[in-house]
Amino acid sequence: MSTLNFDDKVVIVTGAGNGLGRSHALAFAARGARVVINDLGGSATGEGADRSAADKVVDEITAAGGEAVANHDSVTDGDRIVQCALDNFGRVDIVINNAGILRDKSFHNMTEDDWDLVYNVHVKGAFKVTHAAWPHLREQEYGRIIFTASAAGIYGNFGQANYAMAKLGLHGMAQSLAIEGAKRNIVVNTIAPIAGSRMTATIMPPQIVEQLKPEFVTPLVLTLCHEAHRDSGSLYEVGAGWIGKLHWERSKGHGFPISQPLTPEAIVEQWSAITDFTDADHPGNGQEAIMAMLGNLQNT
Ligand code: NAI
Repeated sequence: MSTLNFDDKVVIVTGAGNGLGRSHALAFAARGARVVINDLGGSATGEGADRSAADKVVDEITAAGGEAVANHDSVTDGDRIVQCALDNFGRVDIVINNAGILRDKSFHNMTEDDWDLVYNVHVKGAFKVTHAAWPHLREQEYGRIIFTASAAGIYGNFGQANYAMAKLGLHGMAQSLAIEGAKRNIVVNTIAPIAGSRMTATIMPPQIVEQLKPEFVTPLVLTLCHEAHRDSGSLYEVGAGWIGKLHWERSKGHGFPISQPLTPEAIVEQWSAITDFTDADHPGNGQEAIMAMLGNLQNT
């Protein structure tokens, strides 16, 4: 099998000063890409800033013979990050939306600030970077974009209502951009990773943090961003050397005759049929999904 190279490609990795972002950036650079190492350098809860986070990764890449430039803006100023790629490398091809923070609190104790900050970094930040890059990707008819979700968004998690909202929201954005970008060879996918990092060091035992290397996640990011990869709008769980793809499953459902008024009592009576996953469907898009409902218009 031929090696997946990224020669001549310009990659933006947000939050590349630590953890997963750093691992992605090092791997892209090692395979020939020129990389913008974006990192604000704040704490895991989004306080402060420190230029050395991005600078250190640039130094690592340069020392290994690669090409990279540091950018210290917040992703909420995503247009500046894209401008940095254009100023230094003249183009942008691949955007890895990875920067993230946590403001974990039970919903009962969560403040509006906790909600807004998590939304701003994860969702607004990914929007700003991607939106600034989008016209360039469209024009050159080539682009690869990754959004970083989380199991918390897919399954929910105690103390992470804000983070879960942001993370699954990113996949909603990714699925829509995959549709909008299809004609212009812009491929957009989402990963829900698990990796030992400063973000997970507080919630997992040290031995597990040590074993869950970001380097088990990065190869999937490279695969999804290669020019040969065309599958778009998908969501993958990845970590510890394991990779799987998710899709929606919907029960076969139950159609009520539309000639009669639909009542809550009739729904209770059919509840086991409505929730029975035997012969379940897997709608791949909105049109497929709506067919079950439109088809029931014949059920008179
Ligand atoms: P990390 O804390 O090691 O790295 C995140 C980086 O983002 C930090 O270097 C931080 O300075 C940077 N950052 C934060 N706010 C920023 C901003 N406004 N602008 C620019 N940079 C900013 O965390 P980790 O674990 O590497 O996480 C990376 C991504 O993966 C995050 O989006 C996280 O939510 C997600 N994730 C991680 C999981 C894990 O198991 N480590 C699990 C699920 C999702």
